[in-house]
Amino acid sequence: MTFKVGLLGLGTVGAGTVEILQNPAQRHSLLQDLVIHKVGVRSLDKLRNVTLPTDILTTDLESIVTDPEIDIVVEVIGGLEPARSLILKAIQHGKHVVTANKAAIARFGDEIFTAAAEAGVYVLLEAAVGGGIPVIEPLKQSLCANRLNTVIGIVNGTTNYILTRMQLEGGDFADILADAQNLGYAEADPTADIDGLDAADKIAILASLAFGGRIKLPEVHCEGIRHVSAVDIAYAEKLGFVIKLLAIAKRASATDELEVRVHPTLVPKTHPLASVNDVYNAILIEGDPIGQVMFFGRGAGAGPTASAVVSDVLNIAALLKVGHGDITADGKPLLDPLLACSHQHYCAIAPMEDLVTRFYARFLTKDYPGVIGKLGTCFGDHEVSLESVVQAGMRDDFAEIVVVTHDVREGNFRKALEEIRAMPAIAAVASVLRVL
Ligand code: HSE
Repeated sequence: MTFKVGLLGLGTVGAGTVEILQNPAQRHSLLQDLVIHKVGVRSLDKLRNVTLPTDILTTDLESIVTDPEIDIVVEVIGGLEPARSLILKAIQHGKHVVTANKAAIARFGDEIFTAAAEAGVYVLLEAAVGGGIPVIEPLKQSLCANRLNTVIGIVNGTTNYILTRMQLEGGDFADILADAQNLGYAEADPTADIDGLDAADKIAILASLAFGGRIKLPEVHCEGIRHVSAVDIAYAEKLGFVIKLLAIAKRASATDELEVRVHPTLVPKTHPLASVNDVYNAILIEGDPIGQVMFFGRGAGAGPTASAVVSDVLNIAALLKVGHGDITADGKPLLDPLLACSHQHYCAIAPMEDLVTRFYARFLTKDYPGVIGKLGTCFGDHEVSLESVVQAGMRDDFAEIVVVTHDVREGNFRKALEEIRAMPAIAAVASVLRVL
């Protein structure tokens, strides 16, 4: 029994996928049952790293998703369109789908999974988050006995690379971004990575799986790393922290709501995520009764991402092999409930002003007696308790004061900041970052 695969896209991940499919030796024996039937590309003339019979290449991507012979469509073209339409058409034609497309899933998951349930097909997406790191399947299967409370990840390699270099070299964001672009570690248009949008897509997907409901992407609070400065990295270091772009999903303490957010965060040096550096990703999951588990590895690149793609293809092939044949009462193929997406409601997301967290803030103030007292009083008036206040030195003729709070309600902290900004002694609120 063989299973025919239609591949949409022959870029980095597509070529990595072909490489594995063409070299089954010493890998799982089920790989020998997979056949690359058609490969959709933008141009037939482009020079490529993989060799494929020319008659299986086509620029007609629609002919792949409608081909009656194809069992599994692998979508690795990325982007929103035509990826979304092709995935939906493949589903309508009864194909199982494997995708690496976090942007499409985070935005159109509702439409895609509703269509998949209707058609009785699987849509698997291990490669969409964390590249080669197995985290989607563990959330669906290996951890499914747990009540999951927290998912915290470093899920964007580009920003982790830039922050790591800023930490090690003391350099400024703009210089290191430019160098990372020259070295090919950051895209020419780095917006999706640098502004946290890529991480927001990924945490929306992880939160959906961990908490069993859909997530509206616009409700994910998203801040990137453009405003992280070498000065703050240096102060954080002195205080015992490193700065990381974290993607966080948690049950909010007092309600059934979830916190889902992406922002640069001061992470204690002793925390397991603090030592995840360079382009590496890691996802720390906490559940009851398992406690903490952390998944670490390469979050991008041809090999790691293709590893996740082909594993999904194999999972589907395995199900087909043992007989994806049982039928539900309404005549649809019965799906494995741990692999298919069964939830339909949207999770309620807590507003950021209700978040309870620690803050780091840096102020530039006039250097005269009583300024620290005024800051302390204002914070106190808004129930913001301070863990430490340090006058760190002088900068541009202003006193530089660094404050770390205890756990406080974000709304209260923001109100205090508004009042502080208006004080005649305050030249600038130079930075505000959350602390893990
Ligand atoms: N651009 C992403 C990153 C990789 O920098 O991690 C693909 O998700």
